[in-house]
Amino acid sequence: MNRRIGVAVLGLGWMGEGHSRSMLRIPSLFPNRSFDPVLVVCADTEEARRERAVRDFGFERAVADWREAIASDDVDVVWVTAPNMLHLPMIEAACAAGKAVFSEKPIGGKPEHTVAAYEMAKAAGVRTGVGYNYLWAPLVMHARNLIASGELGEITHYRGRFVSMYGSDKLGLLTWRFILDQAGYGVTSDILSHSVSLAQYLIGDITDVVGMRNTTIPQRPLPTGAASHYGRGRPEDPKGAVENEDFASMLCNFENGATGTFEVSRTLVGPESQNAFEIYGTKGALAWNLEKMNELQYYRLTDDISSGYTTIYGGDRFPFHGVFSPGQANPIGLEDLVAIEDYSFLEALATDGTFSPSFREAVDVVNVQQALINSWDSKTWETVTDLTGENRGN
Ligand SMILES: NC(=O)c1ccc[n+]([C@@H]2O[C@H](COP(=O)([O-])OP(=O)(O)OC[C@H]3O[C@@H](n4cnc5c(N)ncnc54)[C@H](O)[C@@H]3O)[C@@H](O)[C@H]2O)c1
Repeated sequence: MNRRIGVAVLGLGWMGEGHSRSMLRIPSLFPNRSFDPVLVVCADTEEARRERAVRDFGFERAVADWREAIASDDVDVVWVTAPNMLHLPMIEAACAAGKAVFSEKPIGGKPEHTVAAYEMAKAAGVRTGVGYNYLWAPLVMHARNLIASGELGEITHYRGRFVSMYGSDKLGLLTWRFILDQAGYGVTSDILSHSVSLAQYLIGDITDVVGMRNTTIPQRPLPTGAASHYGRGRPEDPKGAVENEDFASMLCNFENGATGTFEVSRTLVGPESQNAFEIYGTKGALAWNLEKMNELQYYRLTDDISSGYTTIYGGDRFPFHGVFSPGQANPIGLEDLVAIEDYSFLEALATDGTFSPSFREAVDVVNVQQALINSWDSKTWETVTDLTGENRGN
């Protein structure tokens, strides 16, 4: 018999909705699962979102106080999908209640929050997962398999970038992402975290970094009431200061000897959601870009140099793709990756299996972020150290 898993979702915004929808889809997508997710309680400070939780998602109840949701006896797992700076207190309460916890990235707004969350969960012995959803893209998993099997030869260079236009409009509202005590750092927490997690997943750890940052739109219109990620103000609206970085770039070395370059921005005009990597090896190269999530570019070094890059289309020959679409080149979408990660986390819980990325892998990401932050001040290369003090052999 499947194990019943009671779920609390804390914050029903973009990702809270995404995970809740995943939970509703899991039974039909994964008939052979070992668990049945039950949407027990949603916590959100906005009344309209609480109403939507019950009416449109079928949560058994919705509350304003997230502590009440975590304390509910019928909740086994807590999904943390509120703005960054709420992650740590929510995780602390989940750990104290002995509940498993899946947190959206980056886990807090600063590296020390992620480390504290990891240490709390470890001390409490609760299972953890973190929402690095792009690691679950079937073609990203295929890229990892190609690299691991030596198809690319030795990896010589990694180029990662996440250039999103979500902040490129200077009338874009001053939402929580731009404010220090709600978001913590800016693009390095928000999207460099995705780029670094992809690089670590695909080719391994980063040893040292040097980088820069910039804030290109220093003021934005203040929202009135609940503001959406893509909300727009008017030129005459009162403005507030952007308190964290819009842009960051980083040079780095990897443990395997490869060099790396990273660029992230929320204000450049042009690339709309270019979460992308290019990986170069002695025998070939790979390139992937979220904007074309169902395509992987593959260059194979052969005697026939006329072949160039070829396009591998997504299809049911790659991990998980067939859960959503049969055959080849019938694309899957962003929320499908969330469904894969949620299913994988809950299946690991139900079967006592391992799960990655956990809070430990989230710490690996902020170890790099901290070295980058250090280099902003020192203006020189900084070594990546493990902020937990654990020796992971890196
Ligand atoms: N993995 C991804 O690709 C991805 C994408 C987007 C966001 N995220 C992460 O998800 C988290 C949420 O981001 P979002 O874009 O969904 O935000 P959002 O602004 O769309 O939603 C946040 C929700 O939290 C609610 N909230 C605020 N304060 C609260 C409180 N005290 N108690 C309960 N609820 C509260 C808000 O009312 C809102 O409904 C962030 O940590 C972000 O980094 C991850």
